Amino acid sequence: MADDIVGVDPSKPSIARVYDYLLGGQDHYEADRKIGSYFTHDLPGSVTIAHTNRQALIRAIGDIADDGIGQFIDIGSGLPTADNVHQVAQRHNPDARVIYVDNDPIVLAHGRALLETDERTAVVQADLRNPEQILQSPAVQRLIDFSEPIGLIFSAILHHLNDDEHPGDLVRWWVDRLPSSSQIYISHFRSGNNAETRVAEQKLQETFGRGRWRTDTEILALFGDGLEILSPGLAYCSQWRPPSPAEGVTAIGVEYRDPSVWEQLISCALARKP
Ligand SMILES: C[S@@+](CC[C@H](N)C(=O)[O-])C[C@H]1O[C@@H](n2cnc3c(N)ncnc32)[C@H](O)[C@@H]1O
Repeated sequence: MADDIVGVDPSKPSIARVYDYLLGGQDHYEADRKIGSYFTHDLPGSVTIAHTNRQALIRAIGDIADDGIGQFIDIGSGLPTADNVHQVAQRHNPDARVIYVDNDPIVLAHGRALLETDERTAVVQADLRNPEQILQSPAVQRLIDFSEPIGLIFSAILHHLNDDEHPGDLVRWWVDRLPSSSQIYISHFRSGNNAETRVAEQKLQETFGRGRWRTDTEILALFGDGLEILSPGLAYCSQWRPPSPAEGVTAIGVEYRDPSVWEQLISCALARKP
């Protein structure tokens, strides 16, 4: 990978690059592989989380687009991977417009090349803790029409914020600006109830110096009041609106069985603004 991307420090692991490593991508450095291989070797089940999270996101984007929503803001989007949000959305609605937001400069560098494949997709480098900067970015101003329903995506991102960064207030900031019938998707790490998963949580917190896994009650509270949580409510990502058996199992072979302890560590829900 090129070492000259402005703002990228290859000596420190980044959330985006470690996640890319776990998903089998190519955009990572030695420091990312070191932490990534800790998970793949010492806690191999934990890699399931990345895949089931991604599969649930793909299903959510398809369903949101099928509900007639043609514009998306994906906050904490990550590096380009297989089946990116704009590709999924445009499969369901060829005119769909997508804004990717991430604070990691590598997402901008790689994302611009790979994600901005048409004038309906753009990448904004910004911190989600500064929503006004995202809103005022030229890309959002150009592509997003706040008089039409929007799909707002927080996939595997809010658990990277500490409580004193008030992730629920950030969600509310956006929800207050969304028109009626907009949909809000959140996936989030769940607090573990066993030693193995507590180790994984601690390792992530030590590595990135931040973040908190939350209980189901805390995750649902991130949506705030006044939203309609759509069926099936908050569920493990692996079980949230699973594809019908006729459509086959997902790419990683998630089948209909009791979820493993790792699958129970990430949940998601989709809500609608009345
Ligand atoms: C675990 S990845 C999730 C990627 C994608 N949303 C998914 O679910 O597959 C989290 C992403 O959030 C980004 N991120 C972390 N903190 C952020 C912040 N404060 N503002 C914007 N993006 C952030 C990271 O750079 C990383 O790309």
